[in-house]
Amino acid sequence: MTETDFVPETLTSDISFGKVTWKAPSNIALVKYWGKLPGQIPANASVSFTLEDSATITTLTYRKLGKEQNDFSFDIFLDDIPVPEFIPKIRTFLGRIERYLPFIKEYHLEIKTTNSFPHSSGIASSASGMAALALCLMEIERRINPELTKLYFETKASFLARLGSGSACRSINGEIVQWGKHPGINSGSDLYGTPYPHKVHAVFKDYQDTILLVHQGQKQVSSTVGHQLMNGHIFAGQRFKQAAQNIEELKQIFETGDLNSFIQVVESEALTLHAMMMTSIPYFVLMKPNTFKIIEKIWEFRKKTALHPCFTLDAGANVHVLYPFKEKEEVMAFIRDELVEYCEDGLFIQDRLGNGAIKIE
Ligand code: PMV
Repeated sequence: MTETDFVPETLTSDISFGKVTWKAPSNIALVKYWGKLPGQIPANASVSFTLEDSATITTLTYRKLGKEQNDFSFDIFLDDIPVPEFIPKIRTFLGRIERYLPFIKEYHLEIKTTNSFPHSSGIASSASGMAALALCLMEIERRINPELTKLYFETKASFLARLGSGSACRSINGEIVQWGKHPGINSGSDLYGTPYPHKVHAVFKDYQDTILLVHQGQKQVSSTVGHQLMNGHIFAGQRFKQAAQNIEELKQIFETGDLNSFIQVVESEALTLHAMMMTSIPYFVLMKPNTFKIIEKIWEFRKKTALHPCFTLDAGANVHVLYPFKEKEEVMAFIRDELVEYCEDGLFIQDRLGNGAIKIE
């Protein structure tokens, strides 16, 4: 589908009021998106695991205004408390999606949002948050036009979410999602995420993700700035090629269930992401000493046990420990005995592969 497929023909609404709630999960990229072109187009394709429990729940109440306003009319609350600091981001988002939901200025929107994970945990809430909001807004379009197919609804929700935060487009569907064109992956689009279309070995079906909260609080450099620093980055060209190769390798790995190769691709991707940050101009480091301690411990544990936990990282210091369900008991014992001491306040989040966003009736 192209951008114009998401512009509704004529859409005027006589719906005066409504309320809808969606829960959208966070996701963790295996092959990372880092660097973009104008219009939130990724510089390389990415593939992620959708999570189950780390999620945002958003309730949107929409009320028709007397006449169309010049500006967007909305209020935003986090845990029932107004969050004026979210207003610029939401306004920018609504501005970007207005062409595709031309009726939004006809409504006052009350957006009430809550995260299942602590706000200060350093877990990115923008992916789950933008996905949940996009799904709620699509619900207005569905009420105006009940003929919308499920596929169109989900694809457009992903398309809109991308315009809020790139990785949010991978938070609509489960369990493995790809975003971005890639010659080896059928159906990939730069405009929205799609469920991974190729064969996936059973070992990945119930993969676990234990998120170790190494550093809670604000990052010094936002991902928006990080993406921009890939423009003109001396390693950018090589990095984008490497990501494409890793997607190709992952395709084989998903098919065969080769966990050692999986570990190699996933850990290399995580370290490359941070290597790009450390070699940007200006350079920056988001990992903390405890991030490295955890990485070393995971490597030691693998050597000792021949089990398969591996790490990946987001744009932050927290560590996602990924492992197959059948190794959960041993890996969790290891996490409790040897890794929790490196977490701030001993905190971690137990999560796993999830099925995607759900509407809460
Ligand atoms: O969606 P953004 O703009 O917050 O960027 C996310 C970038 C990474 O989380 C580091 C990688 C990814 O693919 O999710």
